[in-house]
Amino acid sequence: MVRVRRSGPLEGTVRVSGAKNSALKLMAAALLAPGRSVLHNVPRIADVTWMGELLERMGCTVVHEGATVSIDVPVDVVPEAPYELVERMRASIVVLGPLLGRLGEARVSVPGGDDFGHRPIDMHLKGLEELGATFTTSHGYIEARVDVLTGARVLLEFPSVGATENLLMASVLAKGTTVIDNAAREPEIADLASFLNRMGAVVAGAGTSTITVEGVERLDPVDYTVVADRIEAATYLAAVGIAGGEITIEGARADHMDMLLAKLGEMGIRVSPTADGLWVMAPQRLRSLDVSTLPYPGVATDYQPFVVAMLSVADGVGIVTENIFGGRFRTIDELLRMGADIRAEGHHVVIRGVEALSGAPVRAPDIRAGAALVVAGLAAEGETLVGDAHHVARGYEDLVGRLASLGADIAYA
Ligand code: UD1
Repeated sequence: MVRVRRSGPLEGTVRVSGAKNSALKLMAAALLAPGRSVLHNVPRIADVTWMGELLERMGCTVVHEGATVSIDVPVDVVPEAPYELVERMRASIVVLGPLLGRLGEARVSVPGGDDFGHRPIDMHLKGLEELGATFTTSHGYIEARVDVLTGARVLLEFPSVGATENLLMASVLAKGTTVIDNAAREPEIADLASFLNRMGAVVAGAGTSTITVEGVERLDPVDYTVVADRIEAATYLAAVGIAGGEITIEGARADHMDMLLAKLGEMGIRVSPTADGLWVMAPQRLRSLDVSTLPYPGVATDYQPFVVAMLSVADGVGIVTENIFGGRFRTIDELLRMGADIRAEGHHVVIRGVEALSGAPVRAPDIRAGAALVVAGLAAEGETLVGDAHHVARGYEDLVGRLASLGADIAYA
């Protein structure tokens, strides 16, 4: 449980870790090359530990030393992702692409729904089928097979992050050229492509809607540093937005957060890039505005709980529209318990800012929603107790310690 009291103004410097959503995929991509790959700037979080366990189950040796993770990949990888690990972490599905690419077979538990609701993987499978893979599903497992993965043009129906990643990781060892159209453009995709290129792959266009991959015969293990976590950076931006103050976020990449920073600017937050991060100054009270989530470079769905938390104490009325995950408004019922004035209608929420929230016991429904409740607690009179804080630990390295270092009144209870 995390205990938060009204705090602010915040001041000081905080450093963000490497991106969870990149590190997990790079760990999976390591499967593509036998030998030892070493990742630096890896966040020390539960999801990374679990991905390490999954790789060990496949025969790898995974060693965590601070922010460095080394992965020794054997020649004979066991191509199976069992239910108990996939169920714990849905992102495990990204082993499908590398296993097919390297071994031509995989047996992966079908991921269930999760906190955002129904989350299909049809686009992953359809795209891989176009490269020649066949799938059967039995007893809750997807069994994938292919004799020779062969390059093809794949047009994604939606720029899915996970589908783009699985296709990218499968196609680097395919025969011939693969073109992924309507690809996701998130910075974590570009990070994955530069990791793969470092291994010897030939990937062009990652970060744009058209990614072209020339298949190669083999890849080699490498050392690589994970890109900064833009969602963690957004968490500290929201914290200072809510509590007021002036902070520096080291390691944050302004160029990966353009749209969010533009919106925060309209809310009254001043942000300017420094040599190695962002300097941020927040006004006494934020101004409300409307925000819609969209695939990158739009405002990310992962930022949405933080935007809702900020608007709940901003001056005026704001409408937030969630376009990526229909079920992702789990912060709201908890914020209502804290005295927020929010009304949800389908995938829209109308938020009338209140002067102050009122501390209450709440529950973290998932990683980002949990972190947003922690941050909301900074503007709540009295004490906010955030239960189920293990969700937050899945995605944040030392959120409590880092907020405390900025002067927040926060501790584990
Ligand atoms: C990743 C991120 C998550 C982020 C999301 C969108 C990780 C571990 N997670 O999730 O934090 O919020 O990107 O930026 O990196 N969809 C389908 N069929 C598919 C695949 C997706 O219908 O085969 C739908 C999803 O239900 C969702 C939308 O497409 O509505 C976007 O999902 P996607 O981009 O694939 O998200 P993830 O990769 O799962």
